[in-house]
Amino acid sequence: MLTGKHVVLGVTGGIAAYKACEVVSRLRKLHAEVDVIMTENATKLVAPLTFETLSNRPVCVDTFTRVESWDVKHISLAQKADVFLVAPATANLMAKLAHGIADDMLSTTLLATKAPILLAPAMNTGMWTAQATQENLQTLLARGVKTVGPASGVLACGDTGAGRMSEPVEIVEAVCQLLTAKQDLQGLKVLVTAGPTVERIDPVRYLTNDSSGKMGYAIAQAAAERGAQVTIVSGPVHIAAPQGVTVLPVQSTMDLYHTMLENAPAQDIVIQAAAPADYRVENPADQKIKKQDGENLTLTLVENPDVAKAVGQQKKPGQVLVGFAAETQQVTENAIKKLHKKNLDMIVANDVTAEGAGFGVDTNIVTLITEAGLNPQPKMTKRQVGDKILDEALRIYQEKHAAKQG
Ligand code: PMT
Repeated sequence: MLTGKHVVLGVTGGIAAYKACEVVSRLRKLHAEVDVIMTENATKLVAPLTFETLSNRPVCVDTFTRVESWDVKHISLAQKADVFLVAPATANLMAKLAHGIADDMLSTTLLATKAPILLAPAMNTGMWTAQATQENLQTLLARGVKTVGPASGVLACGDTGAGRMSEPVEIVEAVCQLLTAKQDLQGLKVLVTAGPTVERIDPVRYLTNDSSGKMGYAIAQAAAERGAQVTIVSGPVHIAAPQGVTVLPVQSTMDLYHTMLENAPAQDIVIQAAAPADYRVENPADQKIKKQDGENLTLTLVENPDVAKAVGQQKKPGQVLVGFAAETQQVTENAIKKLHKKNLDMIVANDVTAEGAGFGVDTNIVTLITEAGLNPQPKMTKRQVGDKILDEALRIYQEKHAAKQG
């Protein structure tokens, strides 16, 4: 519930402006007060009356409109905001904000606000990947501006790629997180592994799996927002690193093994959500393997090290180690075996065959398993799962440290 919280929503002239209506409606259902500022271009896509009806407040467009009170409107809204959300945020709006340009009601109010700013970018892929936009994005991130999305998919212009505005439900979740963020991980070092590993067959072919990195990156984002110093050891993924997080990229399970043995000992909490390949090709070819017509190709695979087990063998006193178990059958039994074998404090079991769970999707259905027992969770976004895991990992961390002191 967001009772007493004030969200200012900037709507710019992107085709996704219609989705901002659902954002307002969802925020109002959570009892937030919402003031909408539209750019002139946005009013050509959605009528201000729609936002007025949904927010139950007048919509601001023109800086010089006479209003019902004697407040200087852009200053009063800038001060009243607990969060300033812009959805959709066009390339133009991001450029203006990065460079301090204030030439309409929205950009003027944004420049004046001290509230946390959250952008939901939406634009054509070419515009999103343009050097200018990416440089503006980096400038804004460095100043503490937060972003949600953009997602990848088919865009309104017919192109496919990054640039689609995140769904209203995700945007509202990001707003809630900003409004309710606790700083309970401040002073702690958290390392998260994420994504797949790739095992080379030859210079142009490899073995891998379906891990997108979404689960690991969601945990890392949650930990960073809760004040931890976060490192992600990441296989190849297509997700932007959360703000303020150090990324150590790896390719193969052997890379992951070496990176983890070097970096894990200094961490307070280690969460291993990556899906490392269990086998690698014994002798990857230096040159592209030529097709032999009519002949089968036999690859010999050798076992990779169990990284989590190796990290478990060097566990430091007071350190908390969390693993995942991706299972397709006997989920709990198999997960409990891994909990013990890898010397973990908690294992997060997910049945990767369940709808809305496991690889690639934005949600997961998990059971947190510790020595204390099983703690099954309902279907949640990966971000919410991340918070649950961190709550439990922090509880174990505090318990271990209380025991050490006692
Ligand atoms: O990335 P997403 O698309 O969001 O998907 C999320 C996920 C399904 C990948 C994630 O939720 C998950 O289940 N990750 C663990 C995948 C896995 O490798 O599970 P496992 O049961 O095979 O391994 C158990 C644990 O040992 C894991 O913590 C794994 O990181 C680790 N492991 C596995 C193999 C290996 N050689 N070394 C390891 O350290």
